[in-house]
Amino acid sequence: MSHPELVKVKPDIAANALINRQKYDDMARRASTGPDAFWAAEAKRLDWIKPPTKIKNTSFSGAVSIKWFEDGVLNASANCLDRHLAARGDQVAIIWEGDDPNDQKHVTYRQLHAEVCRMANVLKSLGAKKGDRITIYLPMIVEAAVALLACARIGAVHSVVFGGFSPDSLANRIQDCDSSILITADEGRRGGRKVPLKANADAALKSCPMMKSVLVVRATGGDVPMQAGRDHWYHEAAAQVSADCAPEPMGAEDPLFILYTSGSTGKPKGVLHTTGGYMVWASFTHEYVFDYHPGEIYWCTADVGWVTGHTYIVYGPLANGATTLMFEGIPNYPDSSRFWQVVDKHKVNIFYTAPTAIRALMRDGEAPVKRASRASLRVLGTVGEPINPEAWLWYYRVVGDERCPIVDTWWQTETGGIMITALPGAIDQKPGSATLPLPGVQPVIVDGEGHVLEGPTEGNLCIADSWPGMMRTVFGDHERFVQTYFSTFKGYYFSGDGARRDEDGYYWITGRVDDVINVSGHRMGTAEVESALVAHPKVAEAAVVGFPHDIKGQGIYAYVTLIASEEPTEALRRELVAWVRKEIGPIAAPDAIQWAPGLPKTRSGKIMRRILRKIAANETSNLGDTSTLADPGVVDDLVANRAA
Ligand code: WTA
Repeated sequence: MSHPELVKVKPDIAANALINRQKYDDMARRASTGPDAFWAAEAKRLDWIKPPTKIKNTSFSGAVSIKWFEDGVLNASANCLDRHLAARGDQVAIIWEGDDPNDQKHVTYRQLHAEVCRMANVLKSLGAKKGDRITIYLPMIVEAAVALLACARIGAVHSVVFGGFSPDSLANRIQDCDSSILITADEGRRGGRKVPLKANADAALKSCPMMKSVLVVRATGGDVPMQAGRDHWYHEAAAQVSADCAPEPMGAEDPLFILYTSGSTGKPKGVLHTTGGYMVWASFTHEYVFDYHPGEIYWCTADVGWVTGHTYIVYGPLANGATTLMFEGIPNYPDSSRFWQVVDKHKVNIFYTAPTAIRALMRDGEAPVKRASRASLRVLGTVGEPINPEAWLWYYRVVGDERCPIVDTWWQTETGGIMITALPGAIDQKPGSATLPLPGVQPVIVDGEGHVLEGPTEGNLCIADSWPGMMRTVFGDHERFVQTYFSTFKGYYFSGDGARRDEDGYYWITGRVDDVINVSGHRMGTAEVESALVAHPKVAEAAVVGFPHDIKGQGIYAYVTLIASEEPTEALRRELVAWVRKEIGPIAAPDAIQWAPGLPKTRSGKIMRRILRKIAANETSNLGDTSTLADPGVVDDLVANRAA
């Protein structure tokens, strides 16, 4: 298939867009020459109880300190709800589409406001106060959005744990942020199956003595045990409280949420976002990147368990008074036409999904797409991993009928919102490129020694200066924040990604350059999977790397050395895969396990992952220099015995 170099902005889109090229250039110039004035003006998109007078106060060196709008006072939930009541109280805020195509709900801003107030009052009745951490472990039901906003309303810090994580993963996250309230559900639904959330929570809480109260939403009606004194049904508690709850005044730098994410070493980090800067960034990026016009139906297919769900299902769209669609199901249930059926059913205008979903649907051909008209679609977006040009073009030609611009949005849990992306009415697209930085974002590419590279080049993607939406710290461990993001290249925020910049200044993200694997857009630390494997009694040692995978982008490839008395068998291989699923969650299950009598190590005992990555990728003709290995012989064995 031939690849067009450039997909130009369409004149009809540019004519009606919030930002055209001239405006983009002007905004980018103003944001870089006068960030205080630029962001003071953008901050007005929010309602402040006390408007900020100090705008930017940030430093990327030394102890690293990030403050935006620091003397401002606001409440995130009031910005998502209360301020819309007068003008659009009866507009639908959330369209909920169930896993079962016959299940749907429409929730207006007025109804959502009342429900959030009720849950906020229930949380207060359980003793929650400003600054307390509340863990949320919910399926994709309306109550998930309600829970985030209810925490924000009373100033509690939410920590959402993806419903696909195991009891152990949930327990670790509860312990790390010392949270005393958990909001969960009896069960979740996905693709016609049930997910035992309450049972998982019960298992997790065995090792969480700090947990005082569990609020249980009745989602499926499944029969679950309730522990007296600790567990409370949400619907019963909600019936006892009023639908009025004044929003807590929050300093701009008061924490809004913690979200755990994987890095190259150690346990997942609690990425901390605060209120003012995050909300400005969520609103600014949602409006401009998707060219959101009032009245449009907007659908982001992410799960609220990930940052994409936080910023682009809940906070961004609701801050902007949008109608946001929440989908409980999966792309291929009941069949692989589902996304497009939902688009037609709810007249979706803006659709934002992940490359892995596009690649999976591509495999089923065009017919399931063409069964739906998709006439309402106007803008398409992707996020989570690099999108290969083939998938980009399929999305563009088949899904969007060459009518809809595609915004390939690069960002991270840490960045709070989108950083590098096309804009529908302003930036010509190149299939596979995230294109250009948003106004206020200053990407740089640095080499291994930290020298900033100019012009067309390739290297490590860093950001040179602060933007309002960035994380402020790692919860409870500021030193780890400084070490992880600001020590590799002094004075720069290091993303952990590699990137190429072409002659037009366009960025092409090449993927992680650290020991993080991106599986279907989900971040997994190789160290996490390794420690799960070595926790198995029959495993002596394990090394995990990513390898190219047609659908998932990257798959998980594990090299496993068994203890001396054990023989490798197919049954044991299956047992180990199941073990990792249970320890971390299904997303961490290895795609391939290779039995390794030994691992390639340097004389100082460091595993040479570079070699393991090449073997996993079947690039064994050029393994590079193996002379520094303690025992170069192990490599031949590994090459000869690749897992199919
Ligand atoms: C990858 C998700 C290429 C990248 C919002 C990043 C991307 C990691 C893109 C963050 C994109 C995200 N093109 N790669 N458009 N978007 N990534 O924290 O490796 O779950 O570092 O945030 O996903 O994943 P996270």
